[in-house]
Order: sequence, then structure tokens, then C-alpha cells
Amino acid sequence: MSAKNHPPASILFIFGGSGDLNHRKLTPALFNLFLDEWMPEQFIIAGIGRSDYSDESFRDHLLEGVNKFSRRKGEEKWSEFSQHVAYLQMDGDKSSDYVKIADFVKEKSEKWETPPHVVFYLAVAPQLVPAIANNLGKLDMCADKHKTRIVVEKPFGHDLKSAQELNTQLRSLFAEEQIFRIDHYLGKETVQNILAMRFSNALFEPLWNRNYIDHVQITAIETVGLEGRGGYFEQSGALRDMVQNHILQILCMIAMEAPVSFEANEVRNKNLDVLNALRRFSKEEVAENTVRGQYGKGTNKGKDVTAYRDEKGVAKDSNVETYAAARFFIDNWRWQGVPFYVRTGKSLKEKETHVIIQFKTPPHNTFPTEAAANWRPNRMTISIQPSMDIRIRFQVKRPGQTMNLDPAEMLFDYNSAGDHAPEAYETLLLDALEGDPTLFMRGDQVEAAWEVVMPILTYWEKHQADDFPNYEPGSWGPDKADELINRDDREWVNVL
Ligand code: BG6
Repeated sequence: MSAKNHPPASILFIFGGSGDLNHRKLTPALFNLFLDEWMPEQFIIAGIGRSDYSDESFRDHLLEGVNKFSRRKGEEKWSEFSQHVAYLQMDGDKSSDYVKIADFVKEKSEKWETPPHVVFYLAVAPQLVPAIANNLGKLDMCADKHKTRIVVEKPFGHDLKSAQELNTQLRSLFAEEQIFRIDHYLGKETVQNILAMRFSNALFEPLWNRNYIDHVQITAIETVGLEGRGGYFEQSGALRDMVQNHILQILCMIAMEAPVSFEANEVRNKNLDVLNALRRFSKEEVAENTVRGQYGKGTNKGKDVTAYRDEKGVAKDSNVETYAAARFFIDNWRWQGVPFYVRTGKSLKEKETHVIIQFKTPPHNTFPTEAAANWRPNRMTISIQPSMDIRIRFQVKRPGQTMNLDPAEMLFDYNSAGDHAPEAYETLLLDALEGDPTLFMRGDQVEAAWEVVMPILTYWEKHQADDFPNYEPGSWGPDKADELINRDDREWVNVL
């Protein structure tokens, strides 16, 4: 994440090599890194799976993914890139198969005349992680904590207890600095830009506290529904799927103290401080500060949408939320009393992720009421996707002989700022190859994030929602989410 270097000679093993994540995200990201000349001279991407592929047919399969999902298609450079792609057919559960990995690495070391760095990327269902990690941990090469690392996808655990167990298991096999827990939101350019904006300017920091900020909103909503992931979502729900990880990570970036340096653990310590200061709700506070929703049948963007409970893999009386909103508080000096409203959901009106920083009103009204009829509070809007920009709203005098105030906006637009922004997985894969863990979650951060959501999860699991389904596809979510914020004389901001 800091000044990027070219990674050393590397082998990236992708467990779940023939799966969806590799097809849609990982190989397209690696191909873009290759086109941008970030990949080392000597590297191999080895897909691992049970399916029967030759190197050749595996490359063809990945090329389809690149042509469909990559920001750049597999034109003439593909054949050069594909020479770095191989396939290893093996069963991740079978410890005797792991000799194939050891042999593969040995052969490349001899050929390259240098021992490569080895990254194991576990793009597999969470229940497969413990067995694979166990088998990998037994390989001699994994004792080298500088040259080998393991990347674990989300969900990291199902609750606090299972996350602690997984951490304990991984730490018994690898050193913490070898474990890269991925949260792809941290790789998004606009998310990283929050840190750049906050900590490289003198302008904002003096105002960035309870004295000047009225409240913060974080919205990460989607138009899509389950996309065939009914089985997964029934075990997850919106709170686990989006809040425990992505949204809390954005919140940390907004709320953290200034790191002394960009050293990985320094940034992560400051992030952890925020998670530790987030209020753990009592039962009464859960009822007061959270809202859940589930979509029914309807239409969205002209398409019919099946009710959540009628989706494949979903129970007819499912209590699982497809929408979650909360009002969080950070109990420290900087943020005491400032609400952080967050919301996320599926099958909603727009796909948008943004942060709103709403400033307080000036302490005294200098201008007559008529002049200030259009007055609006200062607001910073950080759009993460699909727009990628930062807007600051302030007041100006309307040109003319009378004194009238109008809101105006200053805009920084990523798209007009030069090169196309890399995808989150490009940044994160390059960091994993370089061994830079700054944008990956440390074990204690993951556990602290679980601690924040556990009271809500427990309460929701114990108390059946009696109003599900309670929002229509194509809407902004349940009415109760509006009530949550309107009660405080505030409203959700939709950036369109
Ligand atoms: C994933 C969730 O982590 O993030 C998905 O499991 C969600 O349910 C996705 O759709 C959203 O990611 P993005 O990058 O499209 O906002």
C-alpha cells in the first residue's frame, strides 16, 4: 500500500482455482497487474482444485473470465501472461496430495535459481479453510515466515467464538505476519483515499471531531438480490455479510486517530482503537439503535424480483435480514455523542456506497432569515462507488445586489484525475505478493469487529422479526430505517 515495489519471484497458489472468485476477480486482477508491469519477472499462478483441467484448458477457462469481467480484455498480451499460469489437480482435504505443492515449489526454485516467495490464497468455502490450513502448516516451507503467507477470504468465522477458534488454529500453524485476512473494501481506491485525505491535509483534521461534526452516515446498498447465493446468505444475513467487515472498516478509517507512520501495525493499531471504543449494545440498546429488513416480491429496474423467502436455499419463514441499519456510538473523546448511522441491503433502489460527514450549524446566524432561506449545513460526501468522488458543500453569496446565500459544491472526481483506478483485488493481490499487510485485517481487529455486532446478532436470532418481509425491491429499505434517523431530526442522504 505504501510506495509499491515489484514483488520478488513468486508462486501464488489459488485453492478454489476453478471457482467463481478466481474466474471473476483474482485472475482478471492479476492480468491487469501484469499489463501494468507490476508482476515480477519470475512468477507462477497455480490454480488448485479437484476439477479435471490441463494447464491449457485451465488457461482457456480463465481467459473467458478475463474477457467477461476484467477492465481490460485478454488481447495480445494474454498468451504471454498465460505462460505463467498452471493447474494442479489435488484434493485439499488429502494431506498426501500436498507433496505436489512441495515438488512444484522445488522445481521452480531450481529453475529460477532462487527460492520464490509463496502465497497460498484460500478462495474456498469457509468450512474448507481449517483442513487446508492444517495441511499447509505441515509443509516445511511454511516455517519461513518471510517467504510464505496465507490469504484467507471472508467470512472469517461465523461469530466471535468461531473467529477466535479459527485465529487460534491459524496462529498455531503460521505467524500472525503470515496471515492475510482479506476485506476487499480496504483495497478500494476511494476507501484508501479517506486516509490520504484525512492525514495529508491540515484543513480537515481540526474540524474532525464532536465539536464540529453533527453526525456521520455510511451507506453501502445494492440493487442485486441473492445472485444464487441463497444457501450462503441464510447462514449470513446482511449484518454479517457487510457490516461486521466492510462497513466497520470504512467507519474505522473515518474515525481513527492519525497514525504516526504508515507502518502496517501502526495503522492497524489505530483502527483497532476505534473498534474497541465502539459501544457494545445492551438488549435495550439493540432495540433502540438497529433496524432489520427483508425484501418481499416486486420489481426492481423493470425486472421481476422473487421474494427473499421464495429464493432457492431460503426457508419459507426465514428470519434472516437482507437489510440492516444501525446507529453506532464511539465512546472516546473525539466522538462522544456523535452518531454514526450505517445501512446496507440487497434489492434496493440503487447500487451506491458513500460516506456523509455532516457538520454542525454555525454557532450564530449572522444573516437575516430571508437571506439564508437556502442555507444548508456543510457536508462532505465521499462517494466510494459507483461514483468515485469527494464533494464539499459550503455556502456562497448568490451573485447580485442582494445578500442571499446559496449552497455550492467543490468536487474532486477520481475519473478526471488521470489513470484508471485499479480494482480492489489488484491492490490487495500486489500487497499480498509483496508481503505488505497494512490493508489486511489482523486477528484482533476481526475479533473486535465481531464483538461489536454480536449483541445485535444474538438479539435478532432470539427475537423473530414479526414484520418480514418489510420492504419492497427497488425501494430505499424499510420505513423503520427512516424512523431510526428521523427520530434524531436527521435523514438519510441518497447520492444520485
Ligand atoms: C461481498 C458480499 O463481501 O461484498 C456480497 O458478500 C456483496 O454480498 C459484495 O454483494 C459487495 O461488494 P462490492 O465491491 O460490489 O460493493
